[in-house]
Amino acid sequence: MLTTLQQLDRHRESPWGKYVLKHCNHSFCLQNDNLKQTLWGLKFPNVLGLAAGCDKDAIAAGIWSHLGFGFAEMGAVTQHSQLGNPRPRLFRLPADHAALNRLGANNLGATKMAETLQAIWQRQPRNIPIGINLCKSKITPLATVAEDYLASFQVLKDWADYFVINVSSPNTPGLRSLQSQEQLEPILEALQKNNGNRQPILLKISPDLDWEAIANILKVAQDYDLSGIVATNTTTKREGLNTQTLSATGNLISEEAGGISGQPVRQRSTEVIRFIYQQTEGKLPIVGVGGIFTADHAWEKLSAGASLLQLYTGWIYRGPWVVREILTGLLTRLSEKGFSHISEVVGIESKP
Ligand code: FNR
Repeated sequence: MLTTLQQLDRHRESPWGKYVLKHCNHSFCLQNDNLKQTLWGLKFPNVLGLAAGCDKDAIAAGIWSHLGFGFAEMGAVTQHSQLGNPRPRLFRLPADHAALNRLGANNLGATKMAETLQAIWQRQPRNIPIGINLCKSKITPLATVAEDYLASFQVLKDWADYFVINVSSPNTPGLRSLQSQEQLEPILEALQKNNGNRQPILLKISPDLDWEAIANILKVAQDYDLSGIVATNTTTKREGLNTQTLSATGNLISEEAGGISGQPVRQRSTEVIRFIYQQTEGKLPIVGVGGIFTADHAWEKLSAGASLLQLYTGWIYRGPWVVREILTGLLTRLSEKGFSHISEVVGIESKP
């Protein structure tokens, strides 16, 4: 699918490219001033973005706006290219409206992504904010991880609008340990010291952290002047799953190793958003992600304190029309509940 989108981008000036893009805009996009958001000096045409993990090499970076997204996060990208884990590495859990993945940050590396983005932005303007999700290379030892993140950041910093330090994917060995203060600080220090243009840098956290660990992270995030938190990544918890399907190896799919996304993570990610909003008194912007399939789910995360939203699994399950459907639903709720603009909803359920 991504290669089709890439082809479409490359042929956007041809008659068929123009025709398809016009059709895409008509079917998938919804423009409305009341859904716009401004953060970090960036203008988001709407609050719903594509989450990291879908466009790992940014090959369709120029197309996501035509599918209705208000922003899109590329990656995860690592300094060194890597193959990721052997297949099978992605499963559906239909009875749980969930996905289980252990892709392991397969990508072509930061230098290749920079070349791809440079070529795309030479062809066309960037019409939605583009983020990049930075991850640790598998071959890099934990002791030199700050240099690894920094190398990716330096290669990519001119080609996107914001950056996310991913220390929360469950599929890179040791990665989640980087959420501890001692391991996190050198990474943030290295990036911020080399962030002359003050690009927004956010941190993406796991839903499986306890409150004390999240509170510590928030302190570090504020000490290092981070621009926000992306909450949350996938979960390694397995409670309450209903899918009984067996994988090719005869195991229950729900017991395969990997991170679960979609409905099982929805409530927890909303709780994490609420906790962050309350702890920081709404001063640290939150990108809310985890299990958004409908406008109600989106509203729930905005009112818990998210200023922006992302989805991935919902897009897989409900198809590309879901973006427009959610945005339409948000507009309906705004008028039903007597709000005029989406920014008024942020944190309304989390205020004291
Ligand atoms: C992901 N996710 C993810 N997150 C991240 O920070 N870097 C990544 O490379 C990936 N890769 C990835 C691959 C696949 C196949 C999935 C399903 C998910 C996590 C994703 O960005 C998001 O945080 C969670 O999936 C929760 O949101 P949804 O999917 O429930 O909307």
